Amino acid sequence: MKYEIKCIGLLTSGGDAPGMNAAIRAVTRAAIFNGIRVKAVYKGYKGLITGEISEFQTQNVSNIIQQGGTILKTARCMEFHSVEGRKVAYETMKREKIDALVVIGGDGTFTGARIFAQEFNIPIVGLPGTIDNDLYGTDSTIGYDTALNTIIEAVDKIRDTASSHERLFFIEVMGRDAGFLALNSALASGAEAAIIPERETKVDQLEELIKNGFRKSKNSSIVIVAESEITGGAYGLAERMHKEHPEYDVRVTILGHIQRGGSPTAYDRILASRMGVAAIDALMDEQRSIMIGIVNDVIVHVPFTKAIKDDKPVNENLLGVIQILSI
Ligand code: F6P
Repeated sequence: MKYEIKCIGLLTSGGDAPGMNAAIRAVTRAAIFNGIRVKAVYKGYKGLITGEISEFQTQNVSNIIQQGGTILKTARCMEFHSVEGRKVAYETMKREKIDALVVIGGDGTFTGARIFAQEFNIPIVGLPGTIDNDLYGTDSTIGYDTALNTIIEAVDKIRDTASSHERLFFIEVMGRDAGFLALNSALASGAEAAIIPERETKVDQLEELIKNGFRKSKNSSIVIVAESEITGGAYGLAERMHKEHPEYDVRVTILGHIQRGGSPTAYDRILASRMGVAAIDALMDEQRSIMIGIVNDVIVHVPFTKAIKDDKPVNENLLGVIQILSI
């Protein structure tokens, strides 16, 4: 029998990402366009437990496409990790007459969604919203392009002072366990190197960097470092430089949460808009427990299990490109 969806719940969960608001707008408008009611759930899964929910009309999502952050607020909800917590969430859904969920977030969000969908037989579709770009099955996640642009804007500024003082800068960027932001921001900012966790498991990248030599034609250098326990991040590497190569004048900049803010780029707004409409299409098509992805500009459906579990590989060849371009 066809499971008719009359009302969806919409939430953002995990770290916020620029473009989440554009996605909220697209999901809301596409649902209402198709005669489906929309209930906004606040603060991620927590809102399903506390009942912080309100109905959205089209005007609730006016003038938000250009805003960073998420108007639905977000959280990492510990209660949702327990069966008891998820049972309360299910009771709230029943009370609010919510038939299905659209969740916007990263792998933690989809891990929770997968379990919840299975336990209570709830249709759930996910949109990849994270600056880390670490979800398998999609070329890009909502927020990644904006974060890259924020990083290169900051690196351009640091370069001015690095070259004035003839210093070596280790600039740490986010990414959790993945090197996508580091690799591509290094390429886009003309950095001398990127140090990423994926490669550190194979070689000592700092040693490699010293061996290859920094750019000969310049006295300053920029190295983009992905946050990582494996490499020790920018501070860990700077400490090693201090001990092993004290001849370098090293400075560290941690870009931090600035990378998560700001108005989304055109790319992220377009991606979020297309994915939001695709999420409602997928639910009406009886698709369940999938993430909407984009591959070669075509919208695809990726089972939660694959999006979370399969490792998305970084293109390590780009490290070679960075090296060639930094002679
Ligand atoms: O997943 C997004 C992200 O910004 C990661 O890059 C980073 O490691 C983490 O979230 C930081 O989380 P929080 O804001 O909770 O400190």
